[in-house]
Amino acid sequence: MQNDWVLPGPASAPWLEKAEKYVARAYRPYLPAMITRAEGALLYDADGHRYIDFVGGVGCLNVGHSHPKVVRAIAESAQRFTHTDYTMFPYPQLIALAERLVPYTRIPGAKALFFNSGAEAVENAIKIARAYTGRPGVIAFDGAFHGRTYMAMSLTSKLQPYKARYGPYAPEVYRLPYPSATHGPDLETFRRWLERAAVTWFDPAQIAAVIAEPIQGEGGYIVPVPGFFALLREFCNKHGILLIADEIQTGYGRTGRFFAMEHEGVVPDLMTAGKSIAAGLPLSAVIGRPDVMDAPAENTLGGTYVGNPVACAAALAVLDVMEEEHLVERAAELGERLRQRLDALAVRSPYIGDVRGRGAMVAVEFVHDKATMEPHPDAVARVCHTAMRRGLLLMRCGVYNNAIRFLCPLNIDWALLDEGLDIFQAAVLEL
Ligand SMILES: Cc1ncc(COP(=O)(O)O)c(C=O)c1O
Repeated sequence: MQNDWVLPGPASAPWLEKAEKYVARAYRPYLPAMITRAEGALLYDADGHRYIDFVGGVGCLNVGHSHPKVVRAIAESAQRFTHTDYTMFPYPQLIALAERLVPYTRIPGAKALFFNSGAEAVENAIKIARAYTGRPGVIAFDGAFHGRTYMAMSLTSKLQPYKARYGPYAPEVYRLPYPSATHGPDLETFRRWLERAAVTWFDPAQIAAVIAEPIQGEGGYIVPVPGFFALLREFCNKHGILLIADEIQTGYGRTGRFFAMEHEGVVPDLMTAGKSIAAGLPLSAVIGRPDVMDAPAENTLGGTYVGNPVACAAALAVLDVMEEEHLVERAAELGERLRQRLDALAVRSPYIGDVRGRGAMVAVEFVHDKATMEPHPDAVARVCHTAMRRGLLLMRCGVYNNAIRFLCPLNIDWALLDEGLDIFQAAVLEL
């Protein structure tokens, strides 16, 4: 197991040198190696190194890399045609996908629109909410991540690396604390702040939407206190505000339910989906109440590539795989297995302050001291680096970069999962 590779290897190194010359530094890759092949939960680099992938294309590969069924659907679709622009020359793949996807949201009579990225879905959800309500304001949360385009970035709440030096931000964004089950505030405190903010800070009659992640992803896999979404629903109903659930990271089975809002027993008005929707092909969706979704006038939303036919074909195959391989149920099992191993490790390591999440959406928070919970981002950097050189890919999260999230494909072999967790455990115990 003790690989301790020197990265990059000789086949990857020249490419990284070229990248320095031709690719601007805003795209600085995390892994100093060139990926040449991927399969299931494994990645291979140009030097023949094999990596167990606990990052899953940052949550895009819930069905695994290059799933044969998805690859076949992509090839067949691409052979027929790759693009027309649906709003000019429509095709059935997009309609079939909308029909298959909307029931998963549990929003009665829901309709869908498709876009290219998560950020674009968020942008459009806000536009739809503004068109429906005729109001400008949006409430978002501390620690939120909604993407990098201007509105999405304005809703995002982490300066480094996403916002610093990229202002000014979009106006009419109001921010409230996200009540974390680990770090607080508790529900009653949050309720008081919300009520006060509605008197001192914003006029609820001017708020179009509240946008929230069912579990904050980039923010550190922050599970909200019980009752948070029920409270938001009540607040939104009282003031005629729309509730938008950003399910871009929590969706597609990750939490042991198809969409994580099911855990909350609350139905949002609009939902955004992305990432695992098309196994890494650029596709995202806004799904919502039919009256809300139809508020924008004809041909006022869109874009050249929205709902690309090949991406829609991949997305239909993803839904087949999710259903045939029972990946929602598998995520719950995977989560239990992860929790068992990680909880046991937390007892042995002085640096693990918390293991949290829902289903397979699990993160480990690293701290200097379990009593003070002072964030320990260096520990995260060291564990990720050690694991990488031994063939395990990990990704951090958290506003202080002091948590590691687990985003492996939901159909990962148990043996491979254990092999990856062994590498993780050894790296943590060496801290
Ligand atoms: C909750 C959430 N919303 C929006 C986004 C933005 O998605 P994209 O990177 O596809 O624009 C992300 C990406 O990580 C996300 O996790």
